[in-house]
Amino acid sequence: MSARLIDGKAVAKKILGEIRESIFARSQQGLRPPALAVILVGDDPASHIYVRNKRQACEETGIQSIYHPLSQNTTEEELIALIQKLNASPDIDGILLQLPLPAHIDSNKLLELIDPAKDVDGFHPYNLGRLAQRHPLLRPCTPFGVITLLNSIQETYKNRHAVIIGASNIVGRPMLLELLLAGSTVTLCHRFTKDLSQYVSQADIVVSAVGQPGIIKGAWIKPGATVIDVGISRLPDDSIKGDVEFESAFEKAAWITPVPGGVGPMTTAILMKNTLIAASHFSLHYSDDNKTSPY
Ligand code: GUN
Repeated sequence: MSARLIDGKAVAKKILGEIRESIFARSQQGLRPPALAVILVGDDPASHIYVRNKRQACEETGIQSIYHPLSQNTTEEELIALIQKLNASPDIDGILLQLPLPAHIDSNKLLELIDPAKDVDGFHPYNLGRLAQRHPLLRPCTPFGVITLLNSIQETYKNRHAVIIGASNIVGRPMLLELLLAGSTVTLCHRFTKDLSQYVSQADIVVSAVGQPGIIKGAWIKPGATVIDVGISRLPDDSIKGDVEFESAFEKAAWITPVPGGVGPMTTAILMKNTLIAASHFSLHYSDDNKTSPY
């Protein structure tokens, strides 16, 4: 058996097209474009690439991006003052604080300061709490991007065992909440998990978000499983590799995401979607995407 590829680039492109149309329709009603403030602190090369992609997606969809590139030496007080200003501004709908922040800044404190209604990353405890209580509003971009990809292949979720590897705040933990909400039985593996192979080999759905190339062996994959690779690492030869040993996993899975071109473009597309939702404040409680719970 060999797998079918889940084409994240194509799914993301479709979403961006729909967002562009919605923003055009808004403009016909006299509404200004949604506005996203993008804050990048320091010189992390990967963060610069992510932010460039996000700003490019803004341009493609008609979202206005207001860029705040800040030096590595920016103080916590300066960042607090900027976020308070953006929270108070009626011209800003969404605030993106690119992570990681320099070590002298308390990320949790800053993320909690962002107005939950402008929290387009979905990282604020309010938005995570909503997701935990099965009533999500702004949902973390990568996990909801994964759910959108799974929906695109008509994944069934119920009676399916989903195994997540990696328990980060950005991906693993909210991914657990999303898959639980969708109706799967979920296992979350992390750095203290012994014998990862034992868990992965039982998984109908594998979501790996570790950032260690090849940590998930193709031989572990259950025949017919769906494999989602969130990991993205640059090797010394400049090639990009995921967490999953792709060639051998491809022979066993039913569906698999490529790296690059799988989950990556979805994170950006969902960020644009969240920005549009944040700008359309009043419809927030009635978004179709918030009606997916089987409970
Ligand atoms: N750093 C890595 N992924 C993300 C993300 O999805 N959002 C933000 N703000 N920072 C990140």
